[in-house]
Amino acid sequence: MKRALITGIAGQDGGHLAKFLHEKGYEVYGIIRGQMEASHPRYKAVQAEMPYVHLVMADLLDLAALTRAMQEIKPDEVYNLAAISHVGYSFRDPVLTADVTGKGVLNMLEAIRLAGLEKTTRFYQASTSEMFGGLDYNRPEKGYTETATFHPRSPYGVAKLYGHWITRNYRESYGMFALSGILFNHEGERRGPEFVTRKISQSVARIKYGKQEKIELGNLDSKRDWGYAGDYVKGMWLMLQQSKPDDYVLATGETHSIREFCELAFKEIDIDLKWEGNGADEKGVDTSTGKTLVSINPEFFRPAEVDLLLGDPSKAEKELGWKRDVDFKGLVKLMVTHDLAAEEQIIQLG
Ligand code: NAP
Ligand code: GDD
Repeated sequence: MKRALITGIAGQDGGHLAKFLHEKGYEVYGIIRGQMEASHPRYKAVQAEMPYVHLVMADLLDLAALTRAMQEIKPDEVYNLAAISHVGYSFRDPVLTADVTGKGVLNMLEAIRLAGLEKTTRFYQASTSEMFGGLDYNRPEKGYTETATFHPRSPYGVAKLYGHWITRNYRESYGMFALSGILFNHEGERRGPEFVTRKISQSVARIKYGKQEKIELGNLDSKRDWGYAGDYVKGMWLMLQQSKPDDYVLATGETHSIREFCELAFKEIDIDLKWEGNGADEKGVDTSTGKTLVSINPEFFRPAEVDLLLGDPSKAEKELGWKRDVDFKGLVKLMVTHDLAAEEQIIQLG
């Protein structure tokens, strides 16, 4: 039985990956942070959701705890998913973001070496399309590939770029089987409510049941290459099964605006949106009632924005045989359907 260690087990991807690896027959260990005893409500919630995961307490900032975890578990595969992952938040707390999202990767790699596992343990680093920055000058027509130029536009993107390069450096310096998946946005029913897609799907469900009047958003113009997280964790695993370590882009090859996501999400509750006004005065209005359902709150604008992300997953499709099951429309439907069901359940429970 192979052993896998996942950091960020309590996050969106951690849950999808744990289930996927468990179903493949792995013994799964997951790192959870904080002063958590088995009686802590959050620890209990994660354990209840994934009873098959052995939870290990450690923090990405704590090299000693990470080294101990490596020595005790001796994992065959390590998936480093933990990070301060919210781009907007990284502008508010850039130092912590550099420490966790950047230097935390170095701590993981060093922990593997200090435990004497650098020749046996395979390491996956969660790199990101945010490293490209979405600027015109470096954007290939068919989308970013593994060799496109990086130009990160946030403290998060800069920290991730350090993680990306230090992973490559450990591969080249010590012959470690260490690689990065450069993943474009992936979403789903486990997505945190602070990210725009889940904020929209949860709000649409609350609006449907009269619990919320409208959604306040920031930049509606930005475009993202959005896929389903369940499809992307399969790609992470495939990368670690190859005979040689290499970096791969995972993306859909399509890009859509925040506005389009809103339109499709409201369609799921039979509302047609039309857009009125410009800039900070723009509104999304219900065509049949004239009610404003989306408005702009500049609080959600970022100091620097990534306007457009589009990835080219050809290498992963060709070399890994990676395929996706969920397309953009299917993703919006899946998320709104999930959040409508959750609201219905709350209503039924009184
Ligand atoms: P997520 O839901 O934000 O999960 C991140 C996890 O990291 C959380 O469980 C968090 O713990 C944990 N964490 C934060 N600081 C930590 C620390 N100091 N020590 C230990 N754990 C810590 O992120 P995700 O969407 O699953 O993404 C997984 C990874 O892929 C992240 O590295 C992200 O940056 C990267 N990525 C994501 C996407 C995407 O579209 N989702 C795309 C490209 C790359 P708590 O639960 O305690 O907060
Ligand atoms: N979060 C948020 N909240 N974003 C908003 C809002 C809002 O109210 N209104 C507009 N947006 C815009 C953001 O400005 C951004 O252009 C876009 O929606 C997507 O924002 P997020 O959903 O927060 O995701 P992200 O693209 O910044 O970052 C995610 O994807 C990266 C991969 O490209 C995160 O998962 C990162 O961890 C990941 O690396």
